Amino acid sequence: MYSAEQTKHLQQQTKAFIAHAQIDKNDVEALRNVLRFHEYRYYVLNDPLLADPEYDQLFKQLEKIEEGNPELITGDSPTQRVGSSLNQSFPTVQHLVPMLSLDNSYDADDLLDFDRKARELTRLDVIEYCIEPKFDGASISLIYEDDMLVRGATRGDGVEGEDVTTNIKRIRSIPLSAPFSQYGIQQIEIRGEVLMTKAAFKKYNDALAEQGLPPLANPRNAASGSLRIKDPKIVGKRNLEAFLYNVSYYIRDDRWQMTDDRKKEEKASGASVNSHLSSVNPLSTHSGTLQMLWECGFRSPQKEKIVVQGINEVIKHVHDFEEMRDTLPYEIDGMVIKVNEIALQDKMGMTTHHPRWAIAFKFKARQATTKLRAVEFNVGRTGAVTPVAKLDPVAVGGVTVGSISMHNEEYIKEKDLMIGDSVLIERAGDVIPQIVKSLPELRTGDEKHIHFPRHCPVCKSELYKTEDEAVWRCINIECPAQVVERIIHFVSKDAMDIKSFGEANVRKFYELGLLKDVPGIYTLDFDAISKLEGFGKKSIDNLQSAIEASKQQPLYRLIYALGIRYVGETTAKTVANAIHDVFELENMSDVQLQQMEDVGVKVAQSIFAFFQNKENIKILHKLKELGLQMYNIKRSAPTESNTLHEQTFLFTGTMLKLKRSEAEEMVEKHGGKIASGVSSKLNYLVVGEDAGSKLEKAKKINTIKIISEDEFIKLIGEEASLAPIP
Ligand code: IVH
Repeated sequence: MYSAEQTKHLQQQTKAFIAHAQIDKNDVEALRNVLRFHEYRYYVLNDPLLADPEYDQLFKQLEKIEEGNPELITGDSPTQRVGSSLNQSFPTVQHLVPMLSLDNSYDADDLLDFDRKARELTRLDVIEYCIEPKFDGASISLIYEDDMLVRGATRGDGVEGEDVTTNIKRIRSIPLSAPFSQYGIQQIEIRGEVLMTKAAFKKYNDALAEQGLPPLANPRNAASGSLRIKDPKIVGKRNLEAFLYNVSYYIRDDRWQMTDDRKKEEKASGASVNSHLSSVNPLSTHSGTLQMLWECGFRSPQKEKIVVQGINEVIKHVHDFEEMRDTLPYEIDGMVIKVNEIALQDKMGMTTHHPRWAIAFKFKARQATTKLRAVEFNVGRTGAVTPVAKLDPVAVGGVTVGSISMHNEEYIKEKDLMIGDSVLIERAGDVIPQIVKSLPELRTGDEKHIHFPRHCPVCKSELYKTEDEAVWRCINIECPAQVVERIIHFVSKDAMDIKSFGEANVRKFYELGLLKDVPGIYTLDFDAISKLEGFGKKSIDNLQSAIEASKQQPLYRLIYALGIRYVGETTAKTVANAIHDVFELENMSDVQLQQMEDVGVKVAQSIFAFFQNKENIKILHKLKELGLQMYNIKRSAPTESNTLHEQTFLFTGTMLKLKRSEAEEMVEKHGGKIASGVSSKLNYLVVGEDAGSKLEKAKKINTIKIISEDEFIKLIGEEASLAPIP
């Protein structure tokens, strides 16, 4: 695509542009060329010559010039990939030539058959074949007219597809313009495959998992789904790539005819032939087509393809490729073998389904069908209930699969899965096996719906789910499926901080039956423990006193230690500060909980559900009986003065000098109280930086005094120093 000389020149220009604080608008096309060159290096060659921030700097300069001079914008400007309007729909469009499928082969015999037929049809002894990977993605069809990309479409039913041009433009290995005119081509339809690399796919699935969403079964689904996303911005972030491997249709322009004739004359007279306008039509062979696409700036399998004579060479190479399948950065599901001469292809023709001049050689399947026999519901260590499909064991991609996670209730509905169904499963690369889909057309009528339990299959406690989550959870802290993890969390440093307890001891005591639940921490049989190896008197003493000391931990630590979903340390502190006694939470509605600083709907719902669970309340009572501190000590701490008697305070925003907990302590020391929300009962709202809705609300209530952090310090300081300390 770029000669060494062009590369050198573009590199120099890049340097010059980077050095310019402002690039002249007359250089706009040169700047675009520089950006196109770097896109090509990055996305097509995977060999960038420029750091991302430098690319971004130049891109911004181009945007600036075009913004100031809209008349300079061209359709193929790198900025035109990023038009931001949403796709309303994807209109149906007709392909210029139907997109056919491929016939499949699975072993050497199939290939020998294919070759025999090919030789019969062509009446040749030996056929030249071109072999290339069979990319496992979503097929697309692109049309370029006068060198500009004018349309990108999905395969659809092969005759008609969906117009996804705006999304296609986001794929940066697809050039917005390509110099087909140099080959005398005015209009061309090319075919290829959009795919997601294994690395991008993994990243994408990890992101889904983080949001609690089920992963996609394979990169192909990810690629084809991505092509139909309404927001092209998101498409740009999916890291899609495209391989183009076929020209289905083209129209030459008149110049070509002229030059063709002229070149014939030139050739006859022995004159030199312009290399670009070579009289040998690159489109006369498949390998020449790949070469031309490559020269035009596309990612074609130019480097991957192999041209061989005769089928025996083909057989050897396809097996070699299968061996290195896993080393490729993207998924391939086989190889495609094509008769290299286009004139022979035309002679052989096609069926309604596939061309006779090509065949796919499919690698060992990583997909298989089997029966879904039953569903088990597993409770994970965080309480998440996961449906697991029990399957008739089946081999896929070298391993036998007997059970597969179905993630959540939503997933079962979406995939329309029933007990007794035939299901298609897949093990894509190193991704854990997934159910791709059910095969409802094979149903007999004996299939049964999958009922998701509403009670924990392990402890029978009622399950709980927040509105924006797909996962049902058991939130009983006594649930045997989770209890070990819960105890580990309870004793941990940031929670009750029971030193010398630790994960290993929790597991050991649990396995030996010495510890069954959270209250069990406070009734440990130290006699039994002293008989264990490694527990001398000293370590037992240490453990015992650490356990004893933990009973006096402040309330927020206990709240955090309960392991309520979404309640981290900060939220635990907020909650503890808003109450006097942990049992108050039993009677608070989620709306009341939301009055607390930084407690949103999700957190409030989770706290509410936790305290509505009877088992959890029972445990809290047990802990109280065992001597744990259930009150907010600060609130019942003796006051140092009474200057703020009965005055209520609330803090909002970020304070610069005091920590919020310090400030609250100061209020309480002087007999004041901390309010849980803005209401007419509030006397002072202390406003730090970036105060939000609380301030707005307080402004509407005349009786509330709104003061700054400094005013607060003054108020406390003066009053406090004057006040007699009892
Ligand atoms: S040639 C008329 N070449 O596989 C020629 N197809 O199973 C048809 N595919 O629909 C296509 N890699 O989407 C060709 N190197 C390759 C391919 C390839 C993947 C896809 C293509 C086709 C499907 C058939």
